[in-house]
Amino acid sequence: MRKTALITGVTGQDGSYLAELLLGKGYTVHGIVRRSSTFNTERIDHIYQGPQDAGRTFVLHHADLTDGVALVNLLRDLQPDEIYNLGAQSHVRVSFDAPLYTGDVTGLSALRLLEAVRASGTRARVYQASSSEMFGSAPPPQNEHTPFHPRSPYGCAKVFGYWATVNYREAYGIHAVNGILFNHESPRRGETFVTRKITRAVARIKAGLQDRLYLGNLDAVRDWGYAPEYVEAMWRMLQRDEPDDYVVATGEAATVRQFAEIAFAHADLDWTAHVRYDPKYERPTEVDALIGDPGKARDLLGWQPRVRVAELAGIMVEADIRQLDDQLAGATVRIDR
Ligand code: NAP
Ligand code: GDD
Repeated sequence: MRKTALITGVTGQDGSYLAELLLGKGYTVHGIVRRSSTFNTERIDHIYQGPQDAGRTFVLHHADLTDGVALVNLLRDLQPDEIYNLGAQSHVRVSFDAPLYTGDVTGLSALRLLEAVRASGTRARVYQASSSEMFGSAPPPQNEHTPFHPRSPYGCAKVFGYWATVNYREAYGIHAVNGILFNHESPRRGETFVTRKITRAVARIKAGLQDRLYLGNLDAVRDWGYAPEYVEAMWRMLQRDEPDDYVVATGEAATVRQFAEIAFAHADLDWTAHVRYDPKYERPTEVDALIGDPGKARDLLGWQPRVRVAELAGIMVEADIRQLDDQLAGATVRIDR
């Protein structure tokens, strides 16, 4: 029997990789797309199947995570085997500018979706995209037993989603899991997250289109992994008979400064000649250091990261250089696969 999955946030970085992974495993994949006045499906255009395609296995639905009734109706119709809740206002800095909105979309929507599962009578397994941001100021290394101390409205919203997931598992026996994922990046990373901001700037500086890159806190420490590997961990979590929560990380760390240095060096550039400080990119409260302990995921899921930060920076710089070359050549912009 072909399995059916529903992905919220299918147009995002992780949603696009997860959709590819599940299609490759023979799933029928449904995705929720927000209505937008411009196209917002660039990351999934290469796997799009139109309504006229016979036997299509990838189906998009207009819906919004804030519309609980739409979620109930969709789940009642689809009765998916697996639900991956990846949709969120996922930018930490932006969550300080739009805290209530972030609380609604990123936090309350996790509960909305769980209620929709109950209301629709769906027997689906549910994956909740929890985050290392929940650890906030708790010192590293962080694992599944580390207490949460979030440092942003985004982090607070994710803590709410985490506990809603645990509560629905305990209260109603829903097969719901939290993946506590540390930062993961790729050529499809949103352009305003720091790694992609850096690698895009490297490509533009190399091409002579830009000279300066303005960044905020260079001392922040992050555990950066490769997004396509992390969506595999999500899938593995839902294949376990017992629902549980897992940290997914590389266990290795670098500062923002080190990432910039590696990325610029990959294009034979000296980062000190181009990077400048702008306090605009500081946050009212910062998360100083996130370094995950992925031991449980390794032991129980058989999951291990392969790509480390230096290789990751290289993958992203090369993809941004290729994409810019295409743009400058007037060709159709290609998304790196
Ligand atoms: P992303 O690229 O920002 O994608 C977020 C997705 O959520 C997009 O598809 C976005 O749609 C959708 N979305 C936003 N608001 C929505 C709404 N009201 N209704 C329906 N969909 C909505 O994020 P990502 O990096 O793929 O991350 C996926 C999930 O993992 C997020 O929940 C994020 O918070 C979490 N997470 C990410 C990381 C990481 O390092 N990447 C680490 C830990 C946890 P549009 O395309 O229309 O904006
Ligand atoms: N975005 C950004 N832009 N960050 C900067 C900049 C800048 O110009 N300069 C320095 N930074 C620092 C931030 O202050 C932060 O300490 C670090 O770079 C990483 O910032 P982001 O790339 O925006 O990621 P994040 O760690 O805040 O959040 C990401 O990872 C979380 C998991 O830990 C997001 O993907 C979240 O959705 C995710 O949950």
